Amino acid sequence: MGERTGSWLSEMERRADALIERRHAVILAIESSCDETAAAIVADGREVRSSIIASQIPLHAMYGGVVPEIASRKHVESVDPVVREALSQANLTLADVDAIAVTYGPGLVGALLVGVAYAKALAYAENKPLIPVNHIEGHVSANYIAHPDLEPPFVCLIASGGHSHIVRVDDYGAYTLLGQTMDDAAGEAFDKAARVLNLPYPGGPLLDKLSKEGNPMALQLPHVKISGRYDYSFSGLKTALINRVHALRQKGEDIPAADIAASFQHAVVELLSDKAILAALDTGAETVALAGGVASNSGLRAAMARKCEQHGLRLLMPPPILCTDNAAMIGSAAYYRLMKRELADLDLNACPSLRLV
Ligand code: KG4
Ligand code: ZN
Repeated sequence: MGERTGSWLSEMERRADALIERRHAVILAIESSCDETAAAIVADGREVRSSIIASQIPLHAMYGGVVPEIASRKHVESVDPVVREALSQANLTLADVDAIAVTYGPGLVGALLVGVAYAKALAYAENKPLIPVNHIEGHVSANYIAHPDLEPPFVCLIASGGHSHIVRVDDYGAYTLLGQTMDDAAGEAFDKAARVLNLPYPGGPLLDKLSKEGNPMALQLPHVKISGRYDYSFSGLKTALINRVHALRQKGEDIPAADIAASFQHAVVELLSDKAILAALDTGAETVALAGGVASNSGLRAAMARKCEQHGLRLLMPPPILCTDNAAMIGSAAYYRLMKRELADLDLNACPSLRLV
């Protein structure tokens, strides 16, 4: 492919230059990193013209988690209809699209490859620039859609099923890592705790719901101590919860599921929110943003609202539909990558363990 793709990329860079000059681009974004096949049309990084999400959750729930092979097969089936629906809801055809963006990592390799292969084929066939997007950067960028006036710098707490970081967003696409989990991601911790309580996958949202009926002070959970000032860990909390439930089961006693859920959620939320606030105050940030699936947790949203008000910080929280996986956030991140002329060639590959920083 060498010379041929090289010249293709140069032609795409010329096209990108015209878009950069106008600072205008209508982007078709594709996301298939885990168990949602999603496509969206986003104009200028902030205006969502359509956003389609085909969730595979019911398909994986019977296995208690995402089965990678099943996920890939379902993405293959869904990606084309989902893209067509995104175009149709935006009243556009492919000819109206300026560039094509795709999540190339992190995520499940087989799942990512479906989106990457599809996007490459489309970009080549339609002669449109191809923009590679980091999924985690997508989560952060959901805030640009939800808050059109938002500009970096700000501090962002990213809490999803696979990632848990506190970063300073220095500029578009430029991050400083402040803190992170030492073990499980926040969503993973919620899902594991939910599983112990026999809640179906993905347990996070169900645990959130159940905890509304419980007493957050009912269960004494260990105080988590980590040496990194903005780092955190969930494994101690998770083990304490598992031990407590097993002990009750062994004694044949009733499991106060709502109280356990509420206590666990309270402990996780306190940890995450305290660390995020500390990072913001230490770094002199005025704005704190939430991102990732766990950002839709009602307890986290309430705690952050309370603490940010206390400390005079501006809090940004995308609506829950923009917190969990979607392609609109990918289209937003892609716009800022495009403006920096960061395009992919046709040899773009999936990067399952791609990092943000
Ligand atoms: O960001 P996301 O949709 O996918 C990844 O990139 O991982 O996050 C999914 C994670 C799952 O672990 C899910 O249980 C969790 O976010 N989650 C929640 C809530 N909604 C989604 N966890 C706690 N409370 C919620 N309301
Ligand atoms: Zn995600």
